[in-house]
Amino acid sequence: MSAVSNLEEVRKADHAIEPIFLRRWSPRAMSGEPLSEEELLTLFEAARWAPSTYNEQEWRFLYARRDTPQWPLFFDLLMEANQVWCRRAAVLVVVLARKVFTRNGKPNPVHVFDCGSAWENLALQATAMGLVAHGMAGFDFDKARTALRVPEHFDVAAMFALGRPGDPAELPPELREREIPSDRRPVEESICEGPYDPRNNW
Ligand SMILES: Cc1cc2nc3c(=O)[nH]c(=O)nc-3n(C[C@H](O)[C@H](O)[C@H](O)COP(=O)(O)O)c2cc1C
Repeated sequence: MSAVSNLEEVRKADHAIEPIFLRRWSPRAMSGEPLSEEELLTLFEAARWAPSTYNEQEWRFLYARRDTPQWPLFFDLLMEANQVWCRRAAVLVVVLARKVFTRNGKPNPVHVFDCGSAWENLALQATAMGLVAHGMAGFDFDKARTALRVPEHFDVAAMFALGRPGDPAELPPELREREIPSDRRPVEESICEGPYDPRNNW
């Protein structure tokens, strides 16, 4: 995201990867400007091409654009800590994950996993377009189900905010300080060749 000038100092890959993985991060500063219909559809198009079990495409996206009648319905689901910065988002999205296979109605054990792939596709596309995509678990899941009339065969998986980058100076001080890309633990601490090893202290 263009607001970060020292991204290369904060984030260094230990093994060669495409730069977009390091460039994607979760800013909170957004300008409040809208996204065009085409931009929005491009983001969802990226999600569309995610892999999924049996090509089930379990993801469904409910969304609200700012300054529309739907906005308060989505905004009111958020915890206050997220409302503080989401009031300048352009779009709020609730991700639904279809729990059962369309082909036979049996439980799908990887429905949320596949929705995560779709979300990451979308987030990388947003990064490539210079837009903000910020995932959220800080909202009322039960309220989302009732307020948005989500049927039982879907899990409410997550929410995310979309928008144009804004000025971090306009965030409250405690959020301004956190407006920097985070680091990661070394890859060696996330992998283990062979069975689970208690000595890894995971
Ligand atoms: C599913 C999910 C839920 C998250 N929930 C929140 C949230 O409620 N509020 C928030 O400010 N950030 C939230 N985040 C952002 C994470 O804190 C962030 O992705 C993580 O710290 C890694 O930082 P990065 O995305 O900038 O690389 C969430 C991210 C994801 C993917």
